[in-house]
Amino acid sequence: MRIDILTIFPEMFSSPFEQSILKRAITSGLVDIRIHNIRDYSHDKHRMTDDYPYGGGGGMLMKPEPIIRGVESIKRDNQAAKVVLMTPQGIRYTQQKAVNLARSDSLIFICGRYEGVDERVREFWVDEEISIGDYVLTGGELAAMVVIDAVVRLIPGALGGGETADSFYEGLLEYPQYTRPRCYRGMMVPEVLLSGNHQEIAIWRRKESLKRTTIRRPDLLKEAKISKKDEVLLAEIKIDLKQG
Ligand code: ADE
Repeated sequence: MRIDILTIFPEMFSSPFEQSILKRAITSGLVDIRIHNIRDYSHDKHRMTDDYPYGGGGGMLMKPEPIIRGVESIKRDNQAAKVVLMTPQGIRYTQQKAVNLARSDSLIFICGRYEGVDERVREFWVDEEISIGDYVLTGGELAAMVVIDAVVRLIPGALGGGETADSFYEGLLEYPQYTRPRCYRGMMVPEVLLSGNHQEIAIWRRKESLKRTTIRRPDLLKEAKISKKDEVLLAEIKIDLKQG
């Protein structure tokens, strides 16, 4: 997969891409990430990337020319690339969205700054607008990193053998996990996990996953894949919760 990022703060990306799974995915060639400074596509003598909005009002807007020149330059050898604008006005980012983006061969991220970007960029060059949540960041850079992190770990081979896929795939929260020691300050690991009975462990985990989702994110439960066996577990959970 190829990922191009258009930003006026290219340095912001160095650290996250030099650690852990992202670093490994880059060095092993699973993903080719290229950072472009929008300023390099600005032709005016001060390399300006922002300007005052027509009609007045506070704040500055990102100018269309440098961004569009950047997109066109990247697309020259990569025509099918999907252009994603990071903005709090976009569609909310979810695991499902990450799965969809991970199927693309090529993505271009535009990181907005200031009060936003000229509307013509959004209208004519952008394929998708993504928000990572209902809050306003100082720019799209951190948001792009979040989106890219969740996409790259889904590329086949990005997670090593020890790292497994998550239950979020199925729309549920993860069950509780424990590691050694078996007893820590008097707090024990649940007995079933030490039993060696894989079938029982699987049922316990599924139930805990359903329980956690019921308590914390009932909204997810409505969309999740629920089997007949899950329905039995959910009925038990309802009773357990009523009894406190
Ligand atoms: N830029 C500023 N805030 C943002 C957000 N919440 N999501 C995506 N891009 C942003």
